[in-house]
Amino acid sequence: MALTQSEQKTLAAKTAVDTLIEQKKIFSGMKIGLGTGSTALPAVKRLSERIEDGTLHDIKAVVTSFQTENYCKDLGIPVYTLNDREIDGQLDLAIDGADEIDPENHLIKGGGAAHLLEKIVEYNSKELVIVADESKSVAHVGTKFPLPVEIVPGARRAVEKELKKLGAKCVLREGVRKCGPVITDNGNQILDCTWESPVNPVEMEDKIDRITGVVEVGFFTKLKPTAFIAHADGSVEIR
Ligand code: 5RP
Repeated sequence: MALTQSEQKTLAAKTAVDTLIEQKKIFSGMKIGLGTGSTALPAVKRLSERIEDGTLHDIKAVVTSFQTENYCKDLGIPVYTLNDREIDGQLDLAIDGADEIDPENHLIKGGGAAHLLEKIVEYNSKELVIVADESKSVAHVGTKFPLPVEIVPGARRAVEKELKKLGAKCVLREGVRKCGPVITDNGNQILDCTWESPVNPVEMEDKIDRITGVVEVGFFTKLKPTAFIAHADGSVEIR
């Protein structure tokens, strides 16, 4: 029977953590960045199971959202910040989900509005591992899933004008069961951007980041992540 999307997420997460432990890329005493969302959390859960069964100890986690912080605390995983002396601004590995991933492993992230902290954590990590279900694999990033751009609230109209010049159509992300815009974990707002035809994500990441009032864009193109992508037939592609 074909796996559901949720089963694929759990499979990708569990396979990634177990494989990385086997390959000694996840090891006791390491500093690990933990992502946000419904695929990252099963990876956090698996990590906690491997701590509980005695495989791992002295793991120092740096989280990318309140969601992941709460989850780690509930599971008893010690949480640090990048600024703590024990972490010193540098992680061994980070593991996270993605909204889109192209054949070169360029990513769109920020569907959960956490891409600012995710980028800070992941761009300061020696390795990035992405876990995803097969729906996230696309030929070109940025045409289907809207690109999240975190902005300073007072700069919204000015930033929208600049994004329009880059060919984007922008929508301010609205809260669910909360009136008005989504407010990120950092007190900012999100513009979700779409283009009619594919854009170059590498160039666009830089161009959007240069707009005054933009805090961070959801294109992640400067890393060479390893991706674990689970399929409905129960296989896990590693690329
Ligand atoms: C949060 C993210 C998530 O990793 C991304 O949205 C994927 O989420 P999910 O695993 O729930 O599909 O970037 O900002």
